[in-house]
Amino acid sequence: MMTSLRKSLFFKKIALLLASAFIYSRHYFKLSLHWLKAKGWRSRAGEIVPVRLTFTDVEGQPIQYASGVTTPYLSLLAGGRSKVNADAVVRGVKRALYDPVQDEVVPSDDYLFKMINNSAACYNLIKDPEYAGMVLDLSGLDTYHTNPDRYFDIRKVHLMNNSLASITIKNGHVVTPESKEWNKAKLHLISNLNLLFPALSHNWVHFHFSDIATVISHNLFPIGEVLHQWLSPFMISNLSTNENGKGGAVMDRDMGEKKFFFSDYLIINHTDNEYFVDSVAGRTLSFYSGMNNKGAKGPVVFGFPPKFPAEYADVPYVMALEAGYKASKKFVDNSLKSMNDEEINLLQEWKYHVVKRTTQQFPANETCLASVLSTFIWQVCWVHTLDHQMYFKWTDGLNSASGTLTAFHEEGRLFSRKNQIQFKNMADVAIRYNPNGDSLADITYNDKRLQTALDEYRSDLLSVINRHVKTDAGGDDFKSLSLDEIAPSVLM
Ligand SMILES: [Fe+2]
Repeated sequence: MMTSLRKSLFFKKIALLLASAFIYSRHYFKLSLHWLKAKGWRSRAGEIVPVRLTFTDVEGQPIQYASGVTTPYLSLLAGGRSKVNADAVVRGVKRALYDPVQDEVVPSDDYLFKMINNSAACYNLIKDPEYAGMVLDLSGLDTYHTNPDRYFDIRKVHLMNNSLASITIKNGHVVTPESKEWNKAKLHLISNLNLLFPALSHNWVHFHFSDIATVISHNLFPIGEVLHQWLSPFMISNLSTNENGKGGAVMDRDMGEKKFFFSDYLIINHTDNEYFVDSVAGRTLSFYSGMNNKGAKGPVVFGFPPKFPAEYADVPYVMALEAGYKASKKFVDNSLKSMNDEEINLLQEWKYHVVKRTTQQFPANETCLASVLSTFIWQVCWVHTLDHQMYFKWTDGLNSASGTLTAFHEEGRLFSRKNQIQFKNMADVAIRYNPNGDSLADITYNDKRLQTALDEYRSDLLSVINRHVKTDAGGDDFKSLSLDEIAPSVLM
């Protein structure tokens, strides 16, 4: 006979199971449908992808996105990724049921300085000619339509002598480390960065160039042949992840629209779908064309190869990006040595179409094949992984959220328990990479020369991690990146 304690645990588990099944149904059925429709889930990998092209006109310039109409890569991923996502949802439900309210953690100034210089937050570092140090510019939040129940009030952080010199609030009020408002300003800052990184700074990594290059790879390289084998790991999920991003799976409904139960916990991006898609287009265009001052400033300038302006030479994250590019270029150069003339010609054709459709900046015939391939692999694998993993590692444990419940000038709680759980859940699903047999460590090539090139690439990236990826600021639990934490394509 069950004791009452066992009974209560039993019913809790059943409730958890039912809740998980209900909550996950939206994603699970969508993915499973693709899987069941497939003729055989692996046999479809590499089929020609019918693609829907979208042009968004921003400031008189068209920018192209590609999304799959049917998605063989989804069917290939569905089983394993369903489990990863289901696990994340179960963790989310457990948090909702059991996690206590947690005090937010106020990090030291030193920690925040290192976090800014060792994560994707550094994309917003600018050089102000009137200031000797760097300035972290959050002014993009001014033009971002956030939901009315969240506050994003930080606009600038001045850095000096390896620390934070001041934090400027939206109304122009400047808070310095001596002020009694300093800790509050730092908590606001973290919660603002939690929107700035995933929703504003990281768009270019996902959209446009990686979409277009992926589609052309899928449709040009014959299944089972060397070129397809070589590039498959780097294109496998780019389109499906981007489709989720622009399709509303990781953001709020349109403002005022009723949320479904779990979105209350999952949502990080406090804007609405339509605005999100428009603003992604604007920022992506800025990055790729350098058309307005939002795109050209910053530590990475798009090109074949990408450029890293000299004023960022001391920023450790930029060093890691640049060193990662060199490793990717070496991998491509070594791989190209194993290709025959026919394969090189096909790659040239790929390059021509990719460059022609990606940006009007570069004449397609004058770009270097190895540089275009290296930029693609570097971006979808190394930059994408580093952006997500390092940001999560630095913010994990701070018990923060995305935005605050009260404005800076108001008194009151900054985060509720639900906000904290919401951010952790979002990090689980869409920020942290959950290895699932699809990491850089899991790739194998039949071609021996390609395998040798890959082995060198892995070893080179490990050296980059040892040299440039900062790992000492988060205490004993702060782990460096391992190969199985590197996603070869845009997987989160
Ligand atoms: Fe991403």
